[in-house]
This record gives sequence, structure tokens and C-alpha cells, in this order.
Amino acid sequence: KLVGVLISGSGTNLQALIDYTKQENNNSSAEIALVISNKPGVLGLERAEKAGIPTKVINHKSFKSREEFDEAVHQCLIEAHIDLVCLAGFMRILTGGFVKKWNGRMLNIHPSLLPSFKGGNAHDLVIKSRVRISGCTVHFVAEEVDAGAILVQESVPVYPGDTTETLSERVKKVEHKAFPAALELVASEQAVLQDDGTIKWML
Ligand code: GRF
Repeated sequence: KLVGVLISGSGTNLQALIDYTKQENNNSSAEIALVISNKPGVLGLERAEKAGIPTKVINHKSFKSREEFDEAVHQCLIEAHIDLVCLAGFMRILTGGFVKKWNGRMLNIHPSLLPSFKGGNAHDLVIKSRVRISGCTVHFVAEEVDAGAILVQESVPVYPGDTTETLSERVKKVEHKAFPAALELVASEQAVLQDDGTIKWML
């Protein structure tokens, strides 16, 4: 399966996906064929270039509306014959139309144990709520933000004195295992999204 990865930043999750799919003797069903960033000059683009993966910058600021931006991204994915999309630190909310087109074929990673702590400031919410466990979630993308059927979760402890930075670093370590695992489940069709929004597992 050809995979397109959408990023906005440092791309450590992208790196984990690249490393996984490029591992020798791995029979991965996924190949990363394109990386799209909505921001120019980010480290994630360099990581892709180093790995010999085609990149494209589609700057959201050059578009009048979300719909037009999403359409440009969609066209780019179609031209590259992309089968599956991974949102790896992609900091734009996608329109319902785009999400529908990629229903069952688009994965997102979120830095909390969903359905708790949705939104862009998950680590702050986790720290404020004083829970003792956090983690990450990889899920199919549904129209509602940070919803959608859950593929893989990994947990980490939350320590007293944790800051957004220390917690985020700990969570990222498990993200880098969870995302490749989830991608493999979907690419190998061991996890298939059904019409009712739940996953059919074929493990
Ligand atoms: C990750 O923590 C991810 O869960 C969140 O944004 C961060 C992206 O980090 N959505 P990176 O760009 O992959 O390093």
C-alpha cells in the first residue's frame, strides 16, 4: 500500500514510520511514497528528503478557504496514487468532505489515551487533571476531531513534577512504536473500518 504522510513540524513520528517501512527483512505492507507539509522549512521535510521520499509543501496560507486547501492536498495524494494517509503531527483540521473521501484509509496519532483529553493541548490537560497515566492513541480519522475507531494505544506514567516537555517526550517514545504498528494493521488489512464506524479485526 502506498502511504502519504501529512506533517506540520519536526516529524519524529514520520521518522518512525520511515524507519519501520525501510527496515531490512521486514515484510511491511506499507511504503511511504509522499510527504506533504502545510509549513515550509520544517525538519520533517528534511527527514523525508534524506530518506529519498518525494515531498510537497502545500502552504495553507496560499488558499482562500479550508475547502480549497484540502482539495489541493487531495489532488496531490491522488496524483501520487496514495492508498493510505497518516496524519503525523499535522496541525490543520481537515474538512468533512476530505475526511469522507479518505474514510477508512486515514490514520491520526493523538498524544493522550482517547477518548480522554482531546484537542491541541492534551499534555496540559493531562497534567492539570493530575491523572497518573497518559499515553497515545492511533485511530481512524472520523469527522469529529480526535474521534474515530481506535487501532492502537500505548500508556506511559505521569510523574509529579512533569511538564508539557517531559511528558511529551515520554509519550513520543511510545508514539514511535504505536504508529508503525497501527499502520501495519491497516496496510495488511488486519484491521478494516466498517460502515458502522467500528473496526473488523482479522488477527
Ligand atoms: C505528536 O505528539 C502527535 O501526537 C501530535 O503532534 C506531535 C507530532 O510530533 N499530534 P512529531 O512532529 O511527529 O515529532
